[in-house]
Amino acid sequence: MKTPFLPDDKNFHWKSGELFCEGVPLSAIAQKFGTPVYVYSYNSLKEAFLAYKDALRPYPHLMCYAMKANSNIAIINLLSKLGAGFDIVSGGELHRVIAAKADPHKVIFSGVGKTEEEIKFALESEIKCFNIESEPEVDRIVKVAQELDVIAPVSVRVNPNVDAKTHPYISTGLKQNKFGIAYQDAVKIYKKISEHPELKIIGIDCHIGSQITDIAPFLDSCDRLLDIVEELKKLGIELHHIDFGGGLGIRYQEDETVHHASELVEALHKKLQERELGYLEMIFEAGRSIVGNSGALITEVQFVKYGEEKNFCIVDTAMNDMIRPTLYHAWMQIVPLKLAPERKEEIFDIVGPICETGDFLGKDRELSPEQGDLLAILSAGAYGMTMSSHYNTRIKPPEILVNGSEFFVIREREKIEKLYSSEVLLNFD
Ligand code: LLP
Repeated sequence: MKTPFLPDDKNFHWKSGELFCEGVPLSAIAQKFGTPVYVYSYNSLKEAFLAYKDALRPYPHLMCYAMKANSNIAIINLLSKLGAGFDIVSGGELHRVIAAKADPHKVIFSGVGKTEEEIKFALESEIKCFNIESEPEVDRIVKVAQELDVIAPVSVRVNPNVDAKTHPYISTGLKQNKFGIAYQDAVKIYKKISEHPELKIIGIDCHIGSQITDIAPFLDSCDRLLDIVEELKKLGIELHHIDFGGGLGIRYQEDETVHHASELVEALHKKLQERELGYLEMIFEAGRSIVGNSGALITEVQFVKYGEEKNFCIVDTAMNDMIRPTLYHAWMQIVPLKLAPERKEEIFDIVGPICETGDFLGKDRELSPEQGDLLAILSAGAYGMTMSSHYNTRIKPPEILVNGSEFFVIREREKIEKLYSSEVLLNFD
């Protein structure tokens, strides 16, 4: 039996055949808190964040964490202490920034459907800027800024029409996507914005997709954006920052290769320098590459079931806790917490208890599971808990953060009553 691949093999590691997160055996966490349970390595996310931050240090920059990837307030708070700003896409996320005692002045607000209420809350919180995604959004921000008698800092999210060659559901920078201002309309909209005294233009922004493991699409969209920056300059519109969108993709599988954040930062800065625009503040809205490999979802094998055509390893976590495999056919590494080389491996689908055929965590995996075994679904730190639901009236798992040999509960397991406590019984005959 080959020792299974670990996407972050520094902060997760094998010790005498047991899987550890930093200095803690994951089985100890499962024993103490039960399963399913999300576990995060603090040092993994810190190293991932600092990989960008250190590369950006020589240049004007703001490293904004895209909190949709994982919005636990403990994680927001720890990242803010490392110097992070935040990319938000809802008023709810801004509430989390504030609850986490992070600085709203370092918040950028993306998203195609910002409501008046959300814009008002963001202006009152004095966020860094709105990434404008449509012409009617300009009018809405003007209206709210007028009502509050403030000036709204704005950037335009341009859709650069660059193919990031990622899964169609997570590609965002193509003509057919709902995001951003069409490339050919960008200058026109900047002109319109510049006519409004309630708005202050500060930047330009794009986002072409997620889980992009190649640097080339980032460079292509940078070129496209810099053409606009130069055109605006000629019109007397000076920008202060350029926002390259999300971060790099991460390693889920052994045969994937990824770039270090510094390669991306250096390549992009070179592009700025070539056009004498090195003074522009560089912004990233990275989510997955900060938290993705820092997380594991631990689950217990409930039953091993041999079917006519397939074998099933039925576990106590499900698509409601981790939807990525079924939603995007995303492949996530699944390993036992204790290696059992003496057992014979067979091919299994790892499935949850939910009444849907789509309720799977992994398909056709070589495993030797026995009832009561513990498994880890790896690279589960990004778009795991934040995309979870209560489907089938299942409570959400707790979240535990490991730092060295210590671990901390950063979210408790939900109580079942919470799931229906806001529902109402009717008094019909
Ligand atoms: N900024 C904007 C405007 C975004 O839409 C996103 C992700 C990000 C930043 C962060 O991108 P990242 O650095 O994480 O690649 N749920 C999917 C991923 C959806 C990404 C949507 N936007 C998944 O689990 O693969």
